[in-house]
Amino acid sequence: MSKLKAYLTACQNRVERALDARLPGENILPQKLHQAMRYTVLDGGKRTRPLLTYATGQALGLSEEVLDGPACAVEFIHVYSLIHDDLPAMDNDDLRRGKPTCHKAYDEATAILAGDALQALAFEILANDPSIRVDAAARLKMISNLTKASGSQGMVGGQAIDLASVGTKLNLPELENMHIHKTGALIRASVNMAALSKPDLDPVVAKNLDHYAKCIGLSFQVKDDILDVESDTATLGKTQGKDVDNDKPTYPALLGMAGAKQKAQELHEQAVASLAGFGSEADLLRELSLYIIERTH
Ligand code: IPE
Ligand code: IPE
Ligand code: MG
Ligand code: MG
Ligand code: MG
Repeated sequence: MSKLKAYLTACQNRVERALDARLPGENILPQKLHQAMRYTVLDGGKRTRPLLTYATGQALGLSEEVLDGPACAVEFIHVYSLIHDDLPAMDNDDLRRGKPTCHKAYDEATAILAGDALQALAFEILANDPSIRVDAAARLKMISNLTKASGSQGMVGGQAIDLASVGTKLNLPELENMHIHKTGALIRASVNMAALSKPDLDPVVAKNLDHYAKCIGLSFQVKDDILDVESDTATLGKTQGKDVDNDKPTYPALLGMAGAKQKAQELHEQAVASLAGFGSEADLLRELSLYIIERTH
């Protein structure tokens, strides 16, 4: 994992700077809203989605500079989804990334608005950010891809299924469908943002990358469910055991812990198999797939 570790650190620093530069300053009106946005976005999170955008770019021979905008756009949507996911009306969580959740540090109305504003900022970046060098048609494809991944047939749809499933028993295809939407859709978009940054990309290569992303999008949430059972609050930076407390359907609940781990391993193997057409330029993507199922938080 050493190659990945060095990459992760360098990339996380790059992401932090890129996010900071794109967030309104905390002295700009309305100050409380901008402070809440900066509080939740900066200094935290693994930045897995931006890392996937950059790693896909590396597999495709793209420079990091042209991916700063798309990487930030996906992370802003992700943070917005976390702020709303933590609200009392949803998972009712007090801790996120080792800090009080946005609605605890500020208030519920500010948290709702901070999420709303981060969502708008993501699309403003895709529409206008000078880091994006593709023509208007390709830019529009990026906007279309991220809107679909975020909306009622993507992440938000998955969250709706999640909330409607509390206290019920989903079967395996239903659980998979929920996870593919609530978490998988944005992870898939992270990879596709880089693929769309290369307009002349062979459609077969694009399809293989999309399949890779679909597999790791699901394995990411399977592992999230596993960590909710097996890890601890200090390591996670969010409250451990919330899924059982909130009576959520999860992979460990349905398949048992061994079954959930087996599922994560199978998805990792499928993800790597999707990259068979690449050489060492996709090693980071391969390592990221393993990191996703082996991570401790
Ligand atoms: C947590 O995502 C929410 C899920 C979609 C499972 P991450 O585990 O990527 O959270 P951060 O960004 O590192 O805090
Ligand atoms: C969240 O899933 C998926 C999102 C779209 C935010 P979880 O509810 O399991 O995420 P955590 O465990 O709170 O990070
Ligand atoms: Mg949730
Ligand atoms: Mg949650
Ligand atoms: Mg969870």
